[in-house]
Amino acid sequence: MAHDATQLSPLSAHKSQGLKGRMRVPGDKSISHRALIFGGLARGITKISGLLESEDVINTAKAMAAFGAQIHKDNDGIWFVEGLGTGSLLEPSTVLDFGNSGTGARLVMGLAGAHAFSTTFMGDGSLSGRPMARVLNPLREMGTQVLGRSGDRLPLTIHGADPATPITYRVPMASAQVKSCVLLAGLNMAGTTTLIEPVKTRDHTERMLRGFGAELGEEINEAGETILTLQGLQELTAQDVIVPGDPSSAAFPIVAALITPGSDLLIEDILLNDTRTGLITTLIEMGGDITIENERNSGGERIGNVRVRSSRLKGVTVPAERAPSMIDEYPVLSVAASFASGETRMEGLEELRVKESDRLAAVAAGLAANGVPHEEGNDYLIVTGGSNHIGGGTVATHLDHRIAMSFLTLGLGAEKPVTVDDAAIINTSFPGFVDLMSGLGANLG
Ligand code: S3P
Repeated sequence: MAHDATQLSPLSAHKSQGLKGRMRVPGDKSISHRALIFGGLARGITKISGLLESEDVINTAKAMAAFGAQIHKDNDGIWFVEGLGTGSLLEPSTVLDFGNSGTGARLVMGLAGAHAFSTTFMGDGSLSGRPMARVLNPLREMGTQVLGRSGDRLPLTIHGADPATPITYRVPMASAQVKSCVLLAGLNMAGTTTLIEPVKTRDHTERMLRGFGAELGEEINEAGETILTLQGLQELTAQDVIVPGDPSSAAFPIVAALITPGSDLLIEDILLNDTRTGLITTLIEMGGDITIENERNSGGERIGNVRVRSSRLKGVTVPAERAPSMIDEYPVLSVAASFASGETRMEGLEELRVKESDRLAAVAAGLAANGVPHEEGNDYLIVTGGSNHIGGGTVATHLDHRIAMSFLTLGLGAEKPVTVDDAAIINTSFPGFVDLMSGLGANLG
């Protein structure tokens, strides 16, 4: 169900005793979107366990169903997707509503842009303000027509060329969504698509392409850039996908445990792909007592259990090169930094300005509302932690789930309660967040 911005549900977090217990977080959002997309393109029936059943991912499921994939869920929570074959999607008869999800919209634009029919995309107030030129430009080079508002914002309609032309494309910003859009378009048209990735971003699309049986060339050039080559219209074979726990969701209980004295948490079955673990690296550098247990391989991904105990943190400098591996985690890192002694300097944050909200501005405003000293630059943030008198503010979430969860986390460790103006938006990525955290001892209400 779409999030209704006219009905905000405020929620407060209060200083809490230590968080204790064993827990799991819902399935990884990036892998969940891709499992539905690849399942919808593969021949046969793909079986997905642990799918994240959040609003964002359900919208991608609805989109794949609108393209003709048969999708259902059984009584044990397993999802089944019967695909149509690459290059064989059907024209949707409905407008595709992606709600709050940039990943869903941008990846599915790659599919639609390679098919010679019209697909109309819309989203909520947040998604309608986000830049789509980053995916529409490479699609235009392939011959896709775009009809929509100036500035390439949703709502818009795209119509694939017949035949579409494969391209060589250098991704101009660190974006797994742009990379994935171009690869998905290339997969659905004849010919060879070449993608140059100057900065390595999350690689779930590449792993899943290979996991579903496609051949994907990969080499590193002299400049250290990754070159991916993909032959289009390769047939994919349905797979069984097990979705591991989302490290970007685990980030909230991890930071909550670090900042509330007396905590000892075990979070099971978390994805530990090294394009996603920048936050854990950073928190350990800050002095966080975090250990990885029972590390293992599951379905081509590294997973493990994360053990975290409350810790005295110190400020660090987080290098810009680390940003892609923790891009969604800066809001909650800023919360950890609010409790660390000294300054935490975060650099290379330009992409935060075009997330579900302008996250750099939203974090800075939330810190200001709660008395945390900080400096916001165009592409950096410096947080000075260690004050005993933080909290007491109300934070505007701007339809951004991670802003809501980050500032609720701040309230669990702060002297004074912290209120977020809307907790309903959390359902876009982490349904059950409030109950799960409350069950561990978090004082939310
Ligand atoms: C995602 C990529 C990232 C991330 C988003 C999920 C993905 O966005 O912020 O939450 O699944 O590909 P960008 O690729 O735009 O950085």
